[in-house]
Amino acid sequence: MADVQFLGDADFEQYRSLIYAESGITFTETNRSILESRLKERLREKAVDSVKAYFAEISKNKEELKGFLDSITTNLTRFFRNQAHFDALEKYVVPELIHNIRKSSPGTLKIWSAGCSTGEEPYTIAMLMSEILPPAWKFEIVASDISLKCLMTAKEGFYADSRIVGIPDNYLTKYFDKVDGGYKVHADIQSKIRFDYHNLKNDSGLRNLDIVFCRNVIIYFDEAAQTAVINRFWDAMAAKSFMFIGHSESLFGMDTKFEFVKTEWATLYRKFT
Ligand SMILES: C[S@@+](CC[C@H](N)C(=O)[O-])C[C@H]1O[C@@H](n2cnc3c(N)ncnc32)[C@H](O)[C@@H]1O
Repeated sequence: MADVQFLGDADFEQYRSLIYAESGITFTETNRSILESRLKERLREKAVDSVKAYFAEISKNKEELKGFLDSITTNLTRFFRNQAHFDALEKYVVPELIHNIRKSSPGTLKIWSAGCSTGEEPYTIAMLMSEILPPAWKFEIVASDISLKCLMTAKEGFYADSRIVGIPDNYLTKYFDKVDGGYKVHADIQSKIRFDYHNLKNDSGLRNLDIVFCRNVIIYFDEAAQTAVINRFWDAMAAKSFMFIGHSESLFGMDTKFEFVKTEWATLYRKFT
């Protein structure tokens, strides 16, 4: 009950409208308590004592708004999250691209990890691609997020011992150095990834991508925001390219041109034309 008083209905409506307009992240009565606890934490950090005063601040101060949006994101991630996707990448997507689709011209496969959080997803992709691509092929990864805090961790490439769970031993030995309290990703793997601030509400300017990973991100958006983001991915992708979304996310019923692909390992989407 105390939480409901902290953020009254009219204030909740103002906050949720602003957050939605600025990021696509959708708060409803069901997840209102998450917004309330994150907002409470933010106000404590900033030593602001009223939700109204803070709303006035984020309405006029773009930097503070960015920090606030960062503070309400959910950043849960891990290395090799949903192994089935990486099996499908190795056994279906990459062979399709190099043997059937781009076969005439070995070159660089362009990959986007959209909503990369603290970097575990793009580093997983980078390690796997390093293992499986034939020598004539190269790859580059853009990894983006709306959370500057997460991007700083991602760029640093240091992971505490508790966070390296899921990395196979041979990858850990080959791609990380053991350092005090954890592991540091090798510089050559880091050099394959460009970490960038990007809000999926906007066009990224990326084009001709071969593979997009946007997993466990659109789950926080409503259907209109999901459709807009997915259609922007379409524009960013090359003809005959592939997209992974989270295993609990779906484009079912959505107005998009993506085709559903069911492989032996996982389901994914394809831009055919
Ligand atoms: C739960 S994490 C998923 C991380 C990773 N893709 C995975 O599946 O493990 C969701 C990430 O999406 C980011 N995100 C949420 N809304 C966003 C937006 N509008 N633009 C860019 N990133 C956003 C969050 O900051 C968060 O780091």
